[in-house]
Amino acid sequence: MNIYQPYLMKIDEIIDETIDTRTLKLSFKSEDVAKQFDFKAGQFGEYSVFGAGECTFCIASSPTRKGYIECSFKSVGKVTKAMRELNVGDTMGFRGPYGNSFPLDKMYGKSLVFIAGGIGLAPVRCVIWNALDLRDKFKDVTIIYGARSVGDLVYKRELEDWANRKDVKLWQTVDPGGETKDWKGEVGFVPTIVEKAKPAAKDCYAVVCGPPIMIKFTLPVLEKLGFGPDQIYTTLENRMKCGIGKCGRCNCGPVYVCKDGPVFTAQELRALPNDF
Ligand SMILES: Cc1cc2nc3c(=O)[nH]c(=O)nc-3n(C[C@H](O)[C@H](O)[C@H](O)COP(=O)(O)OP(=O)(O)OC[C@H]3O[C@@H](n4cnc5c(N)ncnc54)[C@H](O)[C@@H]3O)c2cc1C
Ligand code: FES
Repeated sequence: MNIYQPYLMKIDEIIDETIDTRTLKLSFKSEDVAKQFDFKAGQFGEYSVFGAGECTFCIASSPTRKGYIECSFKSVGKVTKAMRELNVGDTMGFRGPYGNSFPLDKMYGKSLVFIAGGIGLAPVRCVIWNALDLRDKFKDVTIIYGARSVGDLVYKRELEDWANRKDVKLWQTVDPGGETKDWKGEVGFVPTIVEKAKPAAKDCYAVVCGPPIMIKFTLPVLEKLGFGPDQIYTTLENRMKCGIGKCGRCNCGPVYVCKDGPVFTAQELRALPNDF
């Protein structure tokens, strides 16, 4: 089989998260593929619109929810604009799953703190649902999520769900000026809210994803709270083409982000040439 040949996927549902961010729920057209398809939290795929091209998104749904995958995307260019033209029932392509994953089994018995900004919640949402579907295996679960404004918060229905759970501590924040009259969450940048939430570093892993500036200022806060660089995981979004280590588009020095990543610890990032 040609390694670049995508699976055919049917769009089952389209959810508008914000004015420019959309989630697609996709099912495999082939029942055989649907039965054998599996992936791990943190992996990504190449999604294609026929005649427009391919682009890279994480798989935003949880591997514990079988039979479909979801991706959430912002329209920024050629392929993502073509994706916005698609409707429920249309066909698109998917190659994957590719890359490494968050080592959830290594985190069993520990507390988890998820920190995300903007559409960076997409890869983190996958791990959150995966962990919540195995809730007994973890101690405290804390989620800290921020966006520029209330209108920019993605996955509002799940934020509501997590807010209502007694076994999850959820902190939601928007940047100063981004609040509405009835906003009940925090106002402030994500690193400031991490400082306020003070997650305990002992026996805890942090999963951080968002704009580079958010990650840059969040890492020192976590370190101040006592998190070692091997307790902090993030996922990189270097531009990719093949997704399978063949084209060299995604390299950071000797590291292929598509094959060796996209998930790295803060310790591993420090060893990369263009580290945070
Ligand atoms: C592992 C991985 C996971 C990703 N997950 C998601 C996701 O879940 N949701 C999502 O919305 N996006 C995600 N991205 C980014 C996404 O791949 C790009 O936004 C998309 O490929 C743009 O395709 P396009 O054809 O519409 O844009 P193009 O026409 O190719 O480009 C439009 C503009 O976006 C810039 N651009 C394109 N790709 C990137 C990139 N990787 N980093 C920075 N700038 C870029 C271009 O330089 C250009 O300025 C991910 C990227 C990677 C590598
Ligand atoms: S995307 Fe081609 S080598 Fe990584």
